Amino acid sequence: MQFSVRDLVNEDATRISRRCWSDPRVYELEKRGIFGRSWLFLGHESQIPRAGDFVQAYMCETPVILARGEDGAIHASVNSCTHRGLPVCRADHGNTKRFVCPYHSWSYRVDGSLATIPQENTLRNKPDKSALGLQRVPRVESWRGMIFGSFDPDIVALEDYLGDMRFYLDAFFQRFPEGVEFLGAPHRWVIDANWKLPVENQLGDVNHGPFLHAALISREIQERIEELGHSVVTAPGHGATFRLMPEDTPWQEVAWGMEGLGGQLGGQEVQDWLREVQARAAQRVGPLRARMKGLTYGIYPNLSFLWSNTAFKVSHPRGPGRVEYWSWAVVPAGAPDTVKRALRTNYSSFFGPGGIIEQEDSEAWSQQYRGASIDFTDDHALYYGLGLGEEAPHPELPGLVSVTANEFYARNFFARWRDELQAVEEGA
Ligand code: FES
Ligand SMILES: [Fe+2]
Repeated sequence: MQFSVRDLVNEDATRISRRCWSDPRVYELEKRGIFGRSWLFLGHESQIPRAGDFVQAYMCETPVILARGEDGAIHASVNSCTHRGLPVCRADHGNTKRFVCPYHSWSYRVDGSLATIPQENTLRNKPDKSALGLQRVPRVESWRGMIFGSFDPDIVALEDYLGDMRFYLDAFFQRFPEGVEFLGAPHRWVIDANWKLPVENQLGDVNHGPFLHAALISREIQERIEELGHSVVTAPGHGATFRLMPEDTPWQEVAWGMEGLGGQLGGQEVQDWLREVQARAAQRVGPLRARMKGLTYGIYPNLSFLWSNTAFKVSHPRGPGRVEYWSWAVVPAGAPDTVKRALRTNYSSFFGPGGIIEQEDSEAWSQQYRGASIDFTDDHALYYGLGLGEEAPHPELPGLVSVTANEFYARNFFARWRDELQAVEEGA
């Protein structure tokens, strides 16, 4: 059946065709229209502090090496040999002077330039090695240590792309004088789901909490979220949900990091450290953001941040019905080791491949993909209309703001997604 993208998402994005998740033609358009034109998260500077450090990354299905060169600059190169296309780096992370292809042993510097071709010794006509480096990612920029790449050489500057999301990200990042640190290599696992489902979930869906995660999130907790919760869209596809705690809230309730493991995160040293962070929060991020207690954030198209359990996650597509999910535990860079360990335990108890909340979410996403793939349901679009038109500007918070039950975060995501795919479809 032929279709056009504008038939899949209606004007106000309250009705969304199941094909958006399941159709292979949609997926091919997404590769060019979304992943070829957006800023995509590659890694964090704390993962590659020294010259020669590297980590693997992906931009959609394209494997990328993110490395720090001898010059201290950050380089992103496609992990595919210029000779016959093999990956030149197989390690997840490490430190090296050269990436050496296993097939004919061409070697590349960490900045992606070609260093040696063993076979050229016996040849009279030497190839021009300066033209045979790894494919570069044309744009690489970082903000607050987060490194992004884009295949679009003309894309707007990263700071402009993030826009007002910086205000909300800084409510977390700027709490800590030394910034944050990504701990080790990410967890990675594969889920039978479309890449947009985890993204949508973490862009603002806190409404499933007391149902899907009933064992952990009581009705009482949810009522507090409904009472204090704010859902924000700073630009279509970007969003944040958080609670704005009342000014007279005791520090234990407002402080970030106190929700782990039944409110018993770590021992006295951890508690003291978290209290100290909260005591300085107003000074560091201002009184309004000191009262913010973050839940979930989303950066278009596929980066998520779960503030409550300090997980950064990227949803890497592997076809319409498969996603390779990457997830990092993130901790304050200057924290004592006991604090970092407690936060990592808190992260992995709930998120990552063994996390109890992650297991429940993953099952829901797989089931949704099945629901999006049922024959004879082409004319039975999914409903995205909850809270239509209730969002509004706020006197102090940037973006459009509403209650958490309003699904405007998802409508905005799909409206942007539709328009970007349509531009590719129409050859713009
Ligand atoms: S394929 Fe890499 S050296 Fe030949
Ligand atoms: Fe969930």
